[in-house]
Amino acid sequence: MTDPGPPIMQLVGVGKTYQTRDGKGVVALTPSTLDIQAGEFLSIVGPSGCGKTTLLNMMAGLIAPSSGSIQIAQSAGTAPRIGLVFQRPVLLPWRRVIDNVLLPVEVMGLAPPEAYRARALELLAMVGLEGFANAYPSELSGGMQQRVSIARSLVYDSAVLLMDEPFAALDAMTREELNLELLRIWKMTGRTIVFVTHNIPEAVLLSDRIVVMTPRPGQVREIVPVPLPRPRALSLMGDPDFGAIADRIRGMLRPAGAALAA
Ligand SMILES: Nc1ncnc2c1ncn2[C@@H]1O[C@H](COP(=O)(O)OP(=O)(O)OP(=O)(O)O)[C@@H](O)[C@H]1O
Ligand SMILES: [Mg+2]
Repeated sequence: MTDPGPPIMQLVGVGKTYQTRDGKGVVALTPSTLDIQAGEFLSIVGPSGCGKTTLLNMMAGLIAPSSGSIQIAQSAGTAPRIGLVFQRPVLLPWRRVIDNVLLPVEVMGLAPPEAYRARALELLAMVGLEGFANAYPSELSGGMQQRVSIARSLVYDSAVLLMDEPFAALDAMTREELNLELLRIWKMTGRTIVFVTHNIPEAVLLSDRIVVMTPRPGQVREIVPVPLPRPRALSLMGDPDFGAIADRIRGMLRPAGAALAA
């Protein structure tokens, strides 16, 4: 393997304790250390409540860690560094679908806006929302709203794209199509993707490495490499090597004791 070079993001001893209204502390993430390589596809899997969203929100700079540090490599250009798809779609209800997709372009003053409009329409078609550009979010189902926020995250090329269970609300067919589309976009743009999912086969299909977290309060338990050849097609899921990696991760996520009962 070639030298991966310096990491694009370095997390050292990053932990989070939330202060609740009654003055107590909730440990959401036990201090964790992780290097993210430029251009890699990294997935994060772990039980509900183990701190995945907390971790992603800290990477995005939305919340501050309670301990440790997050270093992000400086870029030469002025391109925005980080894009984020939230676990729940966050759309502005008073803006049409197309204007929600174009929101980051507007907020960051990226020019020329016309070029982004064409790209936004293309992305809407890609996520199966052709013909909904002028609809309002309230006129869409939850899964359709989530697809709008996926299109919005892809409208500009952030160096790092953080995705928090972006496909969880989608039907299986759409999900598979978007998995392949995401791989295509990732390859084309050379960006770094950090992808949270509960779906183990999805993580194996997409990733270079998979971060497996421990139950709540979580921390990084193990980082599993996925040395399967690329480009990857859905048929890879039937490959014994694919199955072996998925089984290994399943074994790590199984609660202690369950393996003995089997
Ligand atoms: N704003 C908050 N205030 C207090 N506690 C919080 C807050 N956000 C999350 N937590 C707690 O932190 C822990 C981790 O939450 P987080 O949302 O990061 O988990 P997650 O791994 O993303 O779970 P899921 O898979 O269900 O999305 C949980 O125990 C949760 O109750
Ligand atoms: Mg979450």
